[in-house]
Amino acid sequence: MLDHLISERASAIQASGIRRIFNLGASLENPIRLSIGQPDFPIPEPIRNAAINAIESGHNGYTPTQGSPALLSKVIESLKVDLGWDCAVTGAAEQGQPSVFISSGTSGALVLAFMAMLNPGDECIIPDPYFVAYPHMASICGAKAVKCDTYPDFRMTAERVAPLITEKTKFVLVNTPSNPCGVVNDEKESRELRELCKSKGVLLISDEIYDEFVFDDALTSSAKNDPSMKRCASACRENGAHVDTLLIRGFGKTYACTGWRLGYVAGPSEIVDEMAKLQQYTFVCAPAPLQQGVVACFDTPMGEFVKDYQQRRDLVVEKMSAVTELAIPGGAFYAFVKVPEHLNMTGTEFTERMIEDKVLVIPGGVFSDRDTHFRISYATGRDELEQGLDLLARAMS
Ligand SMILES: Cc1ncc(COP(=O)(O)O)c(C=O)c1O
Repeated sequence: MLDHLISERASAIQASGIRRIFNLGASLENPIRLSIGQPDFPIPEPIRNAAINAIESGHNGYTPTQGSPALLSKVIESLKVDLGWDCAVTGAAEQGQPSVFISSGTSGALVLAFMAMLNPGDECIIPDPYFVAYPHMASICGAKAVKCDTYPDFRMTAERVAPLITEKTKFVLVNTPSNPCGVVNDEKESRELRELCKSKGVLLISDEIYDEFVFDDALTSSAKNDPSMKRCASACRENGAHVDTLLIRGFGKTYACTGWRLGYVAGPSEIVDEMAKLQQYTFVCAPAPLQQGVVACFDTPMGEFVKDYQQRRDLVVEKMSAVTELAIPGGAFYAFVKVPEHLNMTGTEFTERMIEDKVLVIPGGVFSDRDTHFRISYATGRDELEQGLDLLARAMS
C-alpha cells in the first residue's frame, strides 16, 4: 500500500544472501554453522567489565562526535606504534597531519567515507569477491562500484586495478585480510597499490577490520617500525612520511563485540574531517559506555585466540585442498573454496545441497559476480568445524 513512498535507493537493494542462509539455518535442528561472520569466543572479561563500569558510573550520554578522549588517545597511541602515524583528533590536525575519529562500527566509517567522496555518477573500485555491503554503499550514493576481478588467487594487485581507473574514479577500496577469502596483502602489493592511487590522484581506502587475525610469519606486516608485529597494514609507512591512505578498522571482530558497533577511521584530514561532519548529523557519536569498554582492548592480548584460529585455518586448508582448489587464507576467519568442476554445480546449488547434510556455508554468488565458490567461516568450535569439513569434503570428492 505504501510502495509508492519507497525511494529508488531503497528498492534497488535486495536483502543480503547471508540472511537467507541464516533463515534456512533457523529452520534446521542443530545445523553445523560454518556461515557465521563473528568470533565464537566471549568478549574478554576486562573489556566487558570496563563497559559495565562505564554504564554503572554514568557514561551514558553523548560523547563528542569525534569519540571519547580516553579512547581517542589509545587509538592515536596505537597508530603511532603500529604504523608510525602521528595522528590528531579530527578538527585539530595541523597542515598535513592525519586525523582520526571513532565511528559506529566499521560499516559506519565506510558509509561516511562513501558519502563524503562519491557524487552521483562517480565510481569507486572494489575487489570481487567483496564484502557484501560495498556495492550497496556505492549505489546508496548514486555511484557505481566497479569490481576488480581477483580470481583465482584473490589478490587485489595494482596490475589488476590500473585498467579500471577512469576520470570518474574517486577511490580504490582494498580489504586486507579479506572477507570472504581471508587473503592478506603483502608489503609489495600494498606499496604498489598506494603508488598507483597516488599517481592517478585517487584515494586508497584500506578496510582492515580483521587486522589482528594475521597468521603466517611470511605475511607479517609491512609495519616497519617493529618487525615483530603481526599486522597487515596496507597503510603503513615510515615515520613522518605523508599519509595518503584512509584506514578503517574495527573492534567488533577482534574482541568478539560486533554488536557494540565500534570502529575508527584515520587518514588524510581533508577527508576525515568531512566524514566527521557527516557523522555529526547521522550517527552523532559511537555508543558512549562501549567506547569506555574498548579502551581496555589495548591492554588485552589476543595472541592465544589468534593462534587457535590459525590452527583451525590449518585444518580447513588440509581438508579442503585435498579435494578442491583453495587460495590459502593468511588471515581473518574465512576460506573461499571452489566447487569442483566435476560436480557441475554453482556455489548456490552446492550450498543448497549441503543443507541436506545440515552444513551451512555461504554461496560465493553472495560476494561476487561469479557463483563458483562458497565461503567457510571457521569461527566455530573445533569439533563442529571438523565434522562440517568432513561432510563438505565427502560431498566434493
Ligand atoms: C570486510 C568487512 N568490512 C566491514 C565489516 C562491517 O563491520 P562492522 O560490524 O564493524 O560494521 C565487515 C563485517 O563482516 C567485514 O567483513
